[in-house]
Amino acid sequence: MGKFEDELREAQRKAFEESAQLSQVKDLEELKAKYLGRRGIISSLLKNLKEVSFESRPALGKLANEIKDRIEGIFKERIEELKITEPSKRKGTELFDYTLPGRKSWSGKFHPITQISEKIIEIFYGMGFEVAKGPDVETDYYNFEALNFPKDHPARDMQDTFYIDDEILLRTHTSPVQIRVMKNRKPPVKIIAPGRCYRHEAINARSFCTFHQVEGFYVDTDVTFADLKGVLSAFVWELFGKEVGVRFRGSFFPFTEPSAEMDIACVNCRGEGCGLCKYRGWLEILGAGMIDPEVFKNVGYDPEVYTGYAFGMGVERIAMLKYGIDDIRLFYENDLRFLRQF
Ligand code: DAH
Repeated sequence: MGKFEDELREAQRKAFEESAQLSQVKDLEELKAKYLGRRGIISSLLKNLKEVSFESRPALGKLANEIKDRIEGIFKERIEELKITEPSKRKGTELFDYTLPGRKSWSGKFHPITQISEKIIEIFYGMGFEVAKGPDVETDYYNFEALNFPKDHPARDMQDTFYIDDEILLRTHTSPVQIRVMKNRKPPVKIIAPGRCYRHEAINARSFCTFHQVEGFYVDTDVTFADLKGVLSAFVWELFGKEVGVRFRGSFFPFTEPSAEMDIACVNCRGEGCGLCKYRGWLEILGAGMIDPEVFKNVGYDPEVYTGYAFGMGVERIAMLKYGIDDIRLFYENDLRFLRQF
């Protein structure tokens, strides 16, 4: 017997092992052909029967048939098992309880500041503005000098600005994006520029060392202050609702002349007077103005040919007014109880 018998038994063992690893009917059919097909492993083993002694052939032939039947049985059983689609009827599979409640999957959300920034951008995008971005780490030239900040202007003071060295700093506003865009492009340019800003300020409910702004500007041959008022009013009515009162007050910025601040009627008391608006009835929401001719000279635009307006707003401030949030620090604490509300 010896070798021939060993080979048959080994084939049986392998067929059993290999079939147990498969879970597709198609794969099992293939494996079955490998063992039992006309040119399969068993057939080729049976050809060797000629080589064993005449006397031992009947016994070995019988054994070979038994093994063949057994292998066939293994495949039949496995294939039947898999063909039964009802999972609870599959052998060796645990009963599945269809009445169990589903597992809850958590979906992520954008931070409220991102959401509001995108909303602001969307409104201006609808009015023909394109989006531009600038770096958070800026030079003194772009952040101050080219924007017509005199050398001794208080905003350049070490108290307000995070300096990296004499020339390099963290931008204190998004206005340097105006310079970067204008230096690279010829009018007309109509841009909205969102971004993060940094100021070396005492941290409290109203101010934080980092915050976000959205800058906007439009330069062409005949842009007027009336265009500015129209665009900003349309923006406020879209974001805060049609009935909201707006007004412009004269102000000062080194890079605009004339300059203005825009107020909206208090979102809390609608102008009656309350704690939020300090009984003024109005809330300041942004700074704006006509781009100063000095700025045009710095970027190589002819102030005799072009005019333009610019504006800049704080995103945290807008979000706080829109959602009635009274502490800016909440945006930076990442407390899920706060964030999940948006
Ligand atoms: N950059 C100013 C700030 O950070 C905001 C501002 C005011 C931007 C007037 C402007 C503007 O573009 O015209 O306070």
